[in-house]
Amino acid sequence: MVIHAIKWSDEMTVGMPALDEDHRRLVVLMNKVIAACYAGVGNAMINTAMNELEAYTKEHFVREECLLEAKNDPNLAAHKQQHQELISQLAEMKSQKHGTEIIPILYRWLVVHIMETDRGYSHLFR
Ligand SMILES: [Fe+2]
Repeated sequence: MVIHAIKWSDEMTVGMPALDEDHRRLVVLMNKVIAACYAGVGNAMINTAMNELEAYTKEHFVREECLLEAKNDPNLAAHKQQHQELISQLAEMKSQKHGTEIIPILYRWLVVHIMETDRGYSHLFR
């Protein structure tokens, strides 16, 4: 899969404006990482972009979990567990030498989470 930039699509919408805004911002930050990988700027610069992505991801996960808690989401525990795993995976990605090969991993890392897990809570906000 060749990905030059992740495009926001309706398939990523969870139907809760604040969380959709967060997810859009995450896509922007992921695209900065992708651009850095293609630019061949080296690990340090890629890690700077990844640090920005990581910081916002953590902030977003807390926000998402609080909103789901307020809705008594029965899947919250499993969802939190996935968030923890995503954070460790990102830390692992940062510790490795990287180039464009991390792009599909990153794509699966977040976009698949949004499309498969996050969309599962959409009904709570309807
Ligand atoms: Fe999530």
